[in-house]
Amino acid sequence: MIRQMLSGPTSSPASSLAAPRPQPRVLITADDLQRRVGELAAAINRDYAASERLICIGVLKGSVFFLVDLVKRLELPVAIDFFQTSSYGGGTSAGEVRIRKDLDLPVRDADVLLVEDIVDTGYTLRTILDLLRWRGARSVKLCALLDKASRREVEVPIDYRGFEIEDLFVVGYGLDFAERYRNLPYVGVLEEGK
Ligand code: IMP
Ligand code: MG
Repeated sequence: MIRQMLSGPTSSPASSLAAPRPQPRVLITADDLQRRVGELAAAINRDYAASERLICIGVLKGSVFFLVDLVKRLELPVAIDFFQTSSYGGGTSAGEVRIRKDLDLPVRDADVLLVEDIVDTGYTLRTILDLLRWRGARSVKLCALLDKASRREVEVPIDYRGFEIEDLFVVGYGLDFAERYRNLPYVGVLEEGK
């Protein structure tokens, strides 16, 4: 087994490690992602120019890639923090959301910008936005890279939106399928049956 893992490209195609790995079909290129992140950052720089305490909050793990690229372009004093959530009942979305890792920072009187990879049904975001308001944030806004608007079950206003996409399961740039594909620099679609 170890020998198989160490044997490079010359290893037998029969080895399970050499099984074909489907490459997702490109939906949004790396260049288009970076260009759009720049546009969102420009709007955020304008809108928060007078803010004294801005915290960008990501939901682990999917939003990490987007959040990092976004805050690198902010010319404002900004703190970052993270939530981790999971839904009861499995699947991408159930009606009840559990906080598995809470924030480190207090949000009272801060301007909070929640940064998400994708808004699907909206349950996760709705829960988190309500919690941030309840904790006394001065303002709470949402920045989402991808919006699957046709899937929405609860209303979630998106203040800064990267791209609206169709009802497709997407991976890459933080988004995963069974923890894989997060590191792709583009957003892609896993083709049916692969
Ligand atoms: P919501 O609560 O239904 O809006 O679920 C949002 C979460 O489901 C996202 O933050 C993602 O983690 C996950 N999710 C929804 N759609 C996709 C997808 O197309 N690819 C990967 N993850 C997704
Ligand atoms: Mg997420």
